[in-house]
Amino acid sequence: MAREGERQWQEKGKGPRLLLFPTPLQGHITPMLQLATLLHCKGFSITILHTNFNSPNPSSYPNFSFESISDGLSEQQTSRINFMTIATALNANCEVPFRDCLAGMMLENTGERIVCIIDDGLFQFLPTVAKHFKLPRLILEMNSVASFVAYVAFPLLKLKGYFPIQDPMSKTPIPELPPLRIKDIPDIKGQSPDTWYEMVANSLNQIMDSAGFIWNSFDHLEHTSLTELRHDHQFPIFPIGPLHKYSLPSSSTSLLVQDRTCMDWLEKQAPKSVIYISFGSLVAIEKTELVETAWGIANSMQPFLWVIRPGSVNGFEWVELPEGFEEKTRDRGLVVKWAPQQEVLAHPAVGAFWTHSGWNSTLESICEGVPMLCWPFLGDQKVNARFVSHVWRIGVQLEDGLERDEIERAIKRLMVEKQGEEVRERISAVKENAEICLREGGSSHESLNSLVDYLMSL
Ligand code: UDX
Repeated sequence: MAREGERQWQEKGKGPRLLLFPTPLQGHITPMLQLATLLHCKGFSITILHTNFNSPNPSSYPNFSFESISDGLSEQQTSRINFMTIATALNANCEVPFRDCLAGMMLENTGERIVCIIDDGLFQFLPTVAKHFKLPRLILEMNSVASFVAYVAFPLLKLKGYFPIQDPMSKTPIPELPPLRIKDIPDIKGQSPDTWYEMVANSLNQIMDSAGFIWNSFDHLEHTSLTELRHDHQFPIFPIGPLHKYSLPSSSTSLLVQDRTCMDWLEKQAPKSVIYISFGSLVAIEKTELVETAWGIANSMQPFLWVIRPGSVNGFEWVELPEGFEEKTRDRGLVVKWAPQQEVLAHPAVGAFWTHSGWNSTLESICEGVPMLCWPFLGDQKVNARFVSHVWRIGVQLEDGLERDEIERAIKRLMVEKQGEEVRERISAVKENAEICLREGGSSHESLNSLVDYLMSL
């Protein structure tokens, strides 16, 4: 519920303005719009700055203002999304349009107070531009606190000789960064190690003197990592998540059309019988991996709902599933191109989630108490998967690539064996703690109040 000052703004609709600028990717736009909605409910006026590519739909957010920034992305760059390509191009192309847009807003400003810019840390030109306009900058972190701690350790890992990584599949522990092993260090497949290291180092340099960090995470889950971060750094930290679980007016943030037929299909399945499989919005696997995945799922004999996003197999817009797969899984499975994931996870028929361990997917699974089978692909996902399987013990990890026998065993372990039951009990407890954190007096609730006070003090 709004506190006294906030209630006045809501009535007048004239709270100070926040400028939010998300990277135009699904996993970034969703939490940024959730944060915008939350802070709007706390009384702030909201402007979303967005690129032309993957622009949000203003009609879904009639209370926000929208300002478009020209991104200069080519059709080739936007038709097959590659994180590094997009990040590099946006950094090269957006500085001038962003500066011009801000200059225009400042000129037009009729005395309204603009408090700060909130972005997700990817835009390296943000500190200079923000400083030019004397605007504080806050970061909404899209990753877990644990993975942020891993990124912050990159210079130390370099010093200790871990880079360039010799064997990316090595299970050798890193004593400086428990419980991570060499294979859990965030990387991007196919990316030159030097370019990747440089990108992480540059990102760290430009975000470390931000006016604060907002985290889509909660204290109960990441207490140790938060304590470590607070011990080592002075910047204000606001863990206010899970953002999607506040009771707020919600509009779809999905960039792709969600196939809702899967909800009817789930209605016909037994409780906790279905494994839901989705690798998020960016992962692209090889065709051979798709075949192994298909046979692993089929041989497990479990009902499944499988999201295969168009373009998610390298070099193909769409790949037919192997011959014999449909026959073997008839009446037992459904394949869709994009699902209403949060609703799917909340459905009583879903018993496990095979995920790429993106942070949004991980939080969404936790909040519905659904055990995870983790197959991390890039970046922070590797750290998330390690924490899910080894620290929080609310899932298991596929350790050795996509191979049909290992997939079959892992699915059965989660869906029908005792280990699955234990994991389910643990994740149910974490789910409850997430709910407690959001209630009045809970850590995320309190952090949100501190964030509002802090924004007002800027
Ligand atoms: C990326 C990184 O992988 C992630 O680790 C980082 O923290 C954010 O950017 P992405 O690959 O998009 O994210 O994964 P994730 O963070 O899990 O976000 C995917 C979003 O798409 C989730 O909110 C999920 O609900 C949604 N989704 C996914 C759907 O709505 N339908 C689907 O079928 C699949």
